[in-house]
Amino acid sequence: MALRTLASKRALTLAQGLGFRHGGGGAAPSGEHLRRHARGLVTFSLPDLPYDYGALEPAISGEIMKLHHQKHHQTYITNYNKALEQLEDAMAKGDASAVVGLQSAIKFNGGGHVNHSIFWKNLKPVSEGGGEPPHGTLGWAIDTDFGSLEVLIQKMNAEGAALQGSGWVWLALDKEMKKLKVETTANQDPLVTKGATLVPLLGIDVWEHAYYLQYKNVKPDYLKNIWKVANWKYASEVYESEIA
Ligand SMILES: [Fe+2]
Repeated sequence: MALRTLASKRALTLAQGLGFRHGGGGAAPSGEHLRRHARGLVTFSLPDLPYDYGALEPAISGEIMKLHHQKHHQTYITNYNKALEQLEDAMAKGDASAVVGLQSAIKFNGGGHVNHSIFWKNLKPVSEGGGEPPHGTLGWAIDTDFGSLEVLIQKMNAEGAALQGSGWVWLALDKEMKKLKVETTANQDPLVTKGATLVPLLGIDVWEHAYYLQYKNVKPDYLKNIWKVANWKYASEVYESEIA
């Protein structure tokens, strides 16, 4: 029993070391979305959305939000938990080859959980302040680093539109340089894979599953409209807590 508990802790530590912990305001392991089982294995569960599925319309349809949350995000979590359980068993057996073999499933599905947990918080219904530009220190930092909010949005939209295949476009804070950056990540790679000092402030999912039902192949329109429900308040809070 003691050995298995130790292995569980090691498995979690290893998973986190692979990039599933990030520096601010997202899917960092926390109470309600974690389940610690009797034998010590930690599993993840789907976080609730902070708004109704239809609350982001017309920018994002309720149908997309429901499918995206209940099916896509849930599948990443299910497969992440499965991979972590297999990792625990492999480590308990000392099976080095199996441990290595699980890394891509952990990165992909764990990244999917991390990224989507941030994404839901990056959106906000217009009636609750979605789309309102950032004020205070983040607003000033955007002006300093990009010239204006409009220039930043154009840059993120251009990089998101140009991204080949599936991935994400991020507004990131480099904590070390104390500078804002735009980054893209492929597939479900979390932002931390681009640098340990990068904190995600606002990420846009540019997988087809995020927009195709509504926007079909016109990704630029999805990118244009998503800013109408951007949660700059959340981005500002993360920025201020990290820059302090
Ligand atoms: Fe997604």
